[in-house]
Amino acid sequence: MKRIIVAANWKMNKNVPESIVFTERLSKNLLNLKRTDIILCPPYTSLFNIGEILNKTDIYLGAQNMYFEASGAYTGEISADMLKSASCQYVILGHSERRHIFNEPDDLIHKKLVAALETGLKPILCIGETLEERQSGRTVNILEKQYVAAFRNLSESQMRKCVIAYEPVWAIGTGVVATPEQASETHKEIRSLVAGQFSYKMATEMAILYGGSVKPGNAAELIATDDIDGFLIGGASLVEEQFVSIAQTVEEYLAKQEK
Ligand code: PGA
Repeated sequence: MKRIIVAANWKMNKNVPESIVFTERLSKNLLNLKRTDIILCPPYTSLFNIGEILNKTDIYLGAQNMYFEASGAYTGEISADMLKSASCQYVILGHSERRHIFNEPDDLIHKKLVAALETGLKPILCIGETLEERQSGRTVNILEKQYVAAFRNLSESQMRKCVIAYEPVWAIGTGVVATPEQASETHKEIRSLVAGQFSYKMATEMAILYGGSVKPGNAAELIATDDIDGFLIGGASLVEEQFVSIAQTVEEYLAKQEK
C-alpha cells in the first residue's frame, strides 16, 4: 500500500542544540502515529545528532541536498554516502530554492537523483512552476520538462524508491496555498507523466506530496483531496505545535479512511 508522508524541510534553520531539543520534543509527540510516515530534513550540521535520536523512533531522516560525486575536491559539498553514514534514508533534490537561488539545472538534479538511488537513498524530487509560468498557461509544460529531465532512464524499481513533491514556487513561503482543486488537478497531470513513462499501476502507487504554505488550517482539506499523498512542509515544520497538528490531521484522515 502507498505510504502517506509528512516531511519537514527545515531549510537553513536551527543550529545543533536547537535541533536536538526540538527533535526530542517532537518525536515524543509523534509516537502515536501508525499510518503516516514522518521525515525530518534538518540542515547538514544536525543530521548526525538527529539521526541518533530518530534511530530509536519510527521517524525517518532526510537531507535537503547533496552532490552527485562520491568524493573528491568539491569544497563545501556533501556526498550521498556521507548522508547515509549520518543515518539519512531520504534526500530532498531539486527544491525550487536550489533551482532558483543556486541555479541548479535539470541535468545536475538528474545526476544527483541517480547518485542518491545508487547509494540507497530515497530521493524526494521537487518540481513546480513559477507564478509567471502558471499565469502564462505553461504549468504542465514546465512540470513535464522538470519531470522528464529528473526521471529519464530510470528503471521501474528505481522509480519506486522515489517520492515526487509538487511545490508551486508561488506558494512556497508566501502564505498563498494552492487550492485543493489546483493541487489535485496538477497532481493528476504529474501522475499521468508517471503513467506515460511506466504504467497506470505505477502512477497510482507513486507518492506525490504537495508543498507550499501547508499549515494546520489548510492541511485537512488538502489531504482529503484526491491525489495528494502527503506534504513537504517548510515554515510550519519549524513550529512544534503546527507540525504535530498537521501530522495528526493526516493520521486522523487515514484512520477514517480505514473504517
Ligand atoms: P513552506 O515551504 O511550507 O514554508 O511554504 C515549503 C517548502 O519549501 O518545501
